[in-house]
Amino acid sequence: MQDPRDASGPPAHPAPAAVRPQALSVGKAARASLKRQRPVILWLTGLSGAGKSTIADRIEERLWQAGYHTTLLDGDNLRGGLTRDLGFSDADRVENMRRVGETAKLMLEAGLIVICSFISPFRKERMLARALVDEGEFLEIFIDTPLAECMRRDPKGLYARAKAGLIPHFTGITSPYEAPVAPEIRLDTLGCGVEDAAGQVLAELRRRGVIA
Ligand code: ADX
Repeated sequence: MQDPRDASGPPAHPAPAAVRPQALSVGKAARASLKRQRPVILWLTGLSGAGKSTIADRIEERLWQAGYHTTLLDGDNLRGGLTRDLGFSDADRVENMRRVGETAKLMLEAGLIVICSFISPFRKERMLARALVDEGEFLEIFIDTPLAECMRRDPKGLYARAKAGLIPHFTGITSPYEAPVAPEIRLDTLGCGVEDAAGQVLAELRRRGVIA
């Protein structure tokens, strides 16, 4: 069977040959112009318990307060719907990222600032999600919290259960996490709180001219 992570070969589920893209009159730029904003994907990656969801939520709240049109895709939420058929094997995480990447692209094309919060443990899948959109539209944000600190926080009690052998393929315990090599933003959560972390992201968006 073809490795679903092997992007060099044909895709595991290629689009049917008889399907051709339909040209649309209203595109990404036109949709975004009504919103008076530049759409972008903010992709938060990090271990379970690193603080991704909390920081993502605060980023969205601050952008919304400033008048920007946003949406937030969070792993735990999507796993109750769009990705409810997926587990945590490598192959299922690869498919999780593929669906999330495509969904984020659709939201981007709707003109939104899209905040994604997923462990997204594999470099290759994060790279594939980035490759779906144009240069500068995908900002990788590494929520850099050491495993020991995530295990100490253990907000959902998952590390304790994973260490007891009750949760298979748990990231950091029995499943790998590949830290970003060159993320656009790295947030050291040992050295800053949620407000500061969100502030650093907004400052970078300002520096890049995404927001005013
Ligand atoms: S990802 O690895 O495929 O990107 P995703 O972000 O969607 O993961 O979901 C992670 C969430 O699922 C965690 O926050 C945690 O609450 C829950 N979870 C359940 N089982 C696992 C597991 N084996 N490994 C990691 N997270 C798990």
